[in-house]
Amino acid sequence: MQTTVKYNDGGQIPHHVAIIMDGNGRWAKSKGKHRVFGHSQGANSLTIIVKHAILRRINTLSVFAFSSENWKRPASEVSSLLKLFSLSIKRELKELIENDIKIQFIGDLTKFPASLQKQMSQAMEKSKNNQGLNLNVAVNYGGRWDIVNACKLYMQDVLLHNKDINALDEAVFKDYLSLPCDVDLLIRTGGEYRVSNFLLYQSAYAEYYFTDVLWPDFNEADLDKAIAFYQKRERRFGMISEQIRGQDAN
Ligand code: FPP
Repeated sequence: MQTTVKYNDGGQIPHHVAIIMDGNGRWAKSKGKHRVFGHSQGANSLTIIVKHAILRRINTLSVFAFSSENWKRPASEVSSLLKLFSLSIKRELKELIENDIKIQFIGDLTKFPASLQKQMSQAMEKSKNNQGLNLNVAVNYGGRWDIVNACKLYMQDVLLHNKDINALDEAVFKDYLSLPCDVDLLIRTGGEYRVSNFLLYQSAYAEYYFTDVLWPDFNEADLDKAIAFYQKRERRFGMISEQIRGQDAN
């Protein structure tokens, strides 16, 4: 869909990159392996991409690791994914902290086993003062859930803390979402052209980059291609080209 353009180190770097990491199952099957093997390779790709995001000075990286709908998968796959999350936290936390990464798990965490919830909160607590990359891992997450949840939280403030309902506007509302910051570049791997309920509100003005590369194969060069695509976009936010370029618009 996109023409290949070269990454420019002096060019604009997206502040917030979101990734729908799709294609683990197909990648594994193409190698005659079980889908779960694809997820574990997917975890390795994530480590590589996190390091590269830091190198490219990306401020915030949000990844979709488990959607609210993924519970519908075979029980054995769901349980393997939860084990993988737990294992990855154990294995990677020390390095995340050493690399000044602030990790946040977003989504309805209450549905996970207590031990996993504890690991997630400890990881968030231990890294909360870090100043480097903000890494958001969406688990049991859905964009619609996020919006409804933000409405509920605001209503609670109205009912319990005398918040004025008329004070609600877009700027106030975003702070009730699991992430307040707009997505600049949304990447989806695995050849599908949909958003699948990821960061719906936050991606209103995102640039969308779709690639056929399956997530376990997605590497540093692929992230650079996505950034290069972003660097060629003219983000108009409803305006016209001449306004963006500071030219006479009449
Ligand atoms: C989608 O591929 C991928 C997932 C539902 C799981 C994503 C999880 C990881 C990449 C593991 C690493 C995450 C962490 C936080 C350690 P798919 O299974 O839908 O692939 P398919 O479309 O080929 O079936």
